[in-house]
Amino acid sequence: MRKFIPAYIRVPVLFFLIAGLVEYFVDSGNEPAFIKYPAVLLFLLLVLVVIISIEGIVSALDNVLFQSLNEDEKARFIVNNEQTPKFIQWIKDTYIKLLGQRPIADESEIVLDHNYDGIRELDNSLPPWWKYAFYISIVFAIVYMLKYEVFDGDSQIDEYNTELAEAKIAIEEYKKTAKDLVDANTVTVLTDASDLSAGKSIFETNCVACHMADGGGGIGPNLTDDHWILGGGIKNVFHTVSEGGRDGKGMIAWKQSLKPVQIAQVSSYILSLQGTTPAKPKAAEGEIWVEETAAE
Ligand code: HEC
Repeated sequence: MRKFIPAYIRVPVLFFLIAGLVEYFVDSGNEPAFIKYPAVLLFLLLVLVVIISIEGIVSALDNVLFQSLNEDEKARFIVNNEQTPKFIQWIKDTYIKLLGQRPIADESEIVLDHNYDGIRELDNSLPPWWKYAFYISIVFAIVYMLKYEVFDGDSQIDEYNTELAEAKIAIEEYKKTAKDLVDANTVTVLTDASDLSAGKSIFETNCVACHMADGGGGIGPNLTDDHWILGGGIKNVFHTVSEGGRDGKGMIAWKQSLKPVQIAQVSSYILSLQGTTPAKPKAAEGEIWVEETAAE
């Protein structure tokens, strides 16, 4: 190996290999290990020094050995060192074979017998690499034609549509697990018992002080009637809870303390109180909300 990979490549490659391994095995979060742990940096520097020293020592030893040889052996050593390694020789041979060139010595055999002002032409056959590529393209064309023309394979537009449909399903799946993605525009009434009971407990912790446990109202308006100050329907209610009521009225924006999914849950719970009869209902405030208007 040493013969055909020079030291200025060997040293950095080995060094970065070790540095990479260290980086891989030392868990340092987002920072590189050698920045987070100065000891690692020290270690890597040491590694570098050791690699360079080994290189130096080995080449010094080589030199000493070389000096101790007699002239004959020195000559043999040099020849041996200059020999091309086997696999590089193999690459060269294959390359020449693929070119299919005739050696210049044989050119007289393939020269054509016309001569234009001293310019002559060789009857070279096509280079093998070209021929093989051509044969492969013929096979490819046949397979391609059979697949798409005879057996009706999926065209690009079909493939695109399939992928699009798959992506849509994936997005739906994702939305199901990522309930926090809802906002006032996408929210829908949650009907699962678990969501409603979660909404109920959020309501009991945060809202009863002003809206009463049964939603009948106190400082805040009655939530059980069909009159709404800030608009009824899940989207408006979500918006009110998230952004708060009118300034100075006492209804704060809950988006600081509640997650979107929690706002959706408590909003759905409030809407489930519609039409119930609270113990001490507060007089209706605001406009009667008719659900159809929500669609506008
Ligand atoms: C500090 C008292 C207070 C608390 C706590 C409170 N609210 Fe309110 N809420 C109000 C007031 C006051 C209004 C009327 C706001 C207005 O008129 O703009 C209101 C309005 C509302 C409305 C709109 C009613 C309508 O008629 O449009 C909804 C919905 C609502 N609150 C839900 C909640 C929820 C859910 C919670 C708990 C997360 C909550 N509120 C906590 C005082 C409160």
